[in-house]
Formats: sequence, structure tokens, C-alpha cells
Amino acid sequence: MSSDDRKLIAVIGATGHQGGAVVRALQASGQFRVRALTRNPGKHRELADEVVEADLNRPETLKAAFEEAHGVFLVTNFREKGTDELKQATAAIRAAKDAGVKHFVWSTLPNVEAISGGEFDVPHFTGKGKIDRIVKEAGFPHHTFVIAPGYYQNFVGFLAPQKQADGSVGWALPLDPDVRCLHMGDIRELGNIVAGAFAHPDEAGNGEYLPLVGDFMSFNEIIDTFNGQGHKFSFKQVPKEVFAALFPGAAELAEMFRYWEVHTYLGSDSSDRIALANKIAGRQPTKFSTWTRLNVPVQMP
Ligand SMILES: NC(=O)c1ccc[n+]([C@@H]2O[C@H](COP(=O)([O-])OP(=O)(O)OC[C@H]3O[C@@H](n4cnc5c(N)ncnc54)[C@H](OP(=O)(O)O)[C@@H]3O)[C@@H](O)[C@H]2O)c1
Repeated sequence: MSSDDRKLIAVIGATGHQGGAVVRALQASGQFRVRALTRNPGKHRELADEVVEADLNRPETLKAAFEEAHGVFLVTNFREKGTDELKQATAAIRAAKDAGVKHFVWSTLPNVEAISGGEFDVPHFTGKGKIDRIVKEAGFPHHTFVIAPGYYQNFVGFLAPQKQADGSVGWALPLDPDVRCLHMGDIRELGNIVAGAFAHPDEAGNGEYLPLVGDFMSFNEIIDTFNGQGHKFSFKQVPKEVFAALFPGAAELAEMFRYWEVHTYLGSDSSDRIALANKIAGRQPTKFSTWTRLNVPVQMP
């Protein structure tokens, strides 16, 4: 098959964690032509077979971005200032439909409002979950929901261990460390699931939910994993109200931790979905202990 015959997949967020993982997995599969989408194509010329401008806040850019695409991967970035995930996703779904896209893959999260009967307010989860219906009702020949877990990478990012008041290094969080509630994974492996879904639409393109889960742990198990590898990290449970006042956005994080404690990250037993995701990916995702050994070196005193 010449490269021109391969189906074209357009990837939003191609310069980021999720979209970047999707670009790399699609390229590695060799089955697809890949169009990386970014607001700054000039800065990322080598990213994929094609690099094209797309700005979810400027829907007029999406026509050319999705033109001739067989498939689209969409992730929205809640953390980016000024992002309205519903508005952005709606524009992308409409543009993909107009462009005749056959398979739409949406990176969603559980609808916490529905799961908790309105008890917990976690906008970056629920906002994504509410978009699922719009994807479903758009009428694409195939559509798939992938669910990103808590990234292992957070432990070298916003959840990195911090110096504590007692001089130790670790975490002070409003979370019961005994409760096993965290579905986590190496976000670079989300791409295997997405590429597998595009390759197997009969098995994964009928509205299936495919979560990436490398491990399911309590915070004490996380600490034990680190400390078993030579770290000396501490954990202190702090009241939600104290944590919520610490920095902008802390209140939402505190609410998210409470939701995890009561319902778990995925909100329900998801073993069948996880098994299907692993089958579609064609491999088992990396365990947390393997990832930490490779990515979080022990600091020598
Ligand atoms: N951290 C976690 O544990 C976790 C877990 C589950 C879900 N999530 C979700 O993951 C999402 C972020 O994904 P990520 O980690 O892949 O992000 P990321 O690494 O920070 O990258 C953000 C990407 O979004 C693109 N982008 C932002 N605004 C855009 C716009 N207006 N139009 C087009 N592209 C735009 C950027 O592209 P350019 O700058 O190149 O244009 C970039 O590729 C968030 O919504 C978050 O809720 C995070």
C-alpha cells in the first residue's frame, strides 16, 4: 500500500501529553497518515506527516484542519486560561461532521455530577462527561470514548513531592491514604488505545469506553512504592477546608479528592472496560512501580 492510500487521522492537542501520545502511536502503527493540529504549526513542522493550524476557539480554522480526515482525536484543555470545553468540543464535533469524518475519538472523563447525584462538583470531569452525548448524537459512523487516568507524570509535575512544615518531603492532601481509589497510568500509553480504536472500529468504534489504567492504588500504596525504591516521602492528611484555601484551584482539587474517596477516579467498577482497552491497545499498560523506577530518581543526600 502506498502511503497516499493510508487513512488520514487529524489529532487535536498534538503538541501535548494526550495528543502527542496519539500522534506517536499512530505513526508507530504505520497504518495511518497523521495530521498534527496545533495553534502554532510553524513551531512544530516535524511533528507528523502533516502539521496544520487548528484553534478550537476559532471554529473557522477547523474546516481545513479536518478536511479529508477519516478520523479525528479530540482532547480539550481545561487548564488553559479562557477554555470553554463545551463550546470548543461542540465546534470540533460540528466541523468533523461537516467534513465527513468517519470515526471520532473523544477524550472524556466521568460525569461526577451524575455519578454522585450532584454531591460533588468537579467541572473538569463533569464538563467532559456531558460532551459524550453530543458525540453520540452527532451520528458519526464510528465513535469511541477514551478516558485518561491520573497521569503518573503528575508526580513529576503538579503533584511532585514538596518540602513540608516538619522538614520532610512528601504530600499534605485532603485524602484518606488508606482508600484505594486512584486509577492511574503513563499517559504516553493513551496513544496505543486510540490507535487501536481507529484500527478496530468494529470492536471499539460503537461508543465503547476505553480507560487507560496501569494501576489502581491508595496513596499509602503510592508512598510504599516510592519508599520501597529508596525514597523517604511522607504523607499527611489535611482537612479539605484548609487545603482549599491554599492556592487558586485548590478547592476544586479538594472536591475531586473527596469524589475519588467515595466513588473512585473512574466512578464505578470498570474492569470490563479496562480489559477491552488493553485488548484494543494490544498490550498491558505499565505498572506504577516500573514507571517510578525509571522516572523518579532517588535524590542522594
Ligand atoms: N493531568 C491529569 O492527570 C489529567 C487526567 C485526565 C484528564 N486530564 C485532562 O487533560 C487535558 C489536557 O490534556 P494534555 O495533558 O494532553 O494537555 P497539555 O499537555 O497541557 O497540552 C495541551 C494541548 O492542548 C492544545 N490546545 C490548547 N488550547 C487549544 C486550542 N484553543 N485550540 C487547539 N488546541 C489547543 C495545545 O496545542 P497548541 O498549544 O500546540 O496549540 C496542546 O497540544 C485537560 O483537559 C485535563 O482535564 C488531565
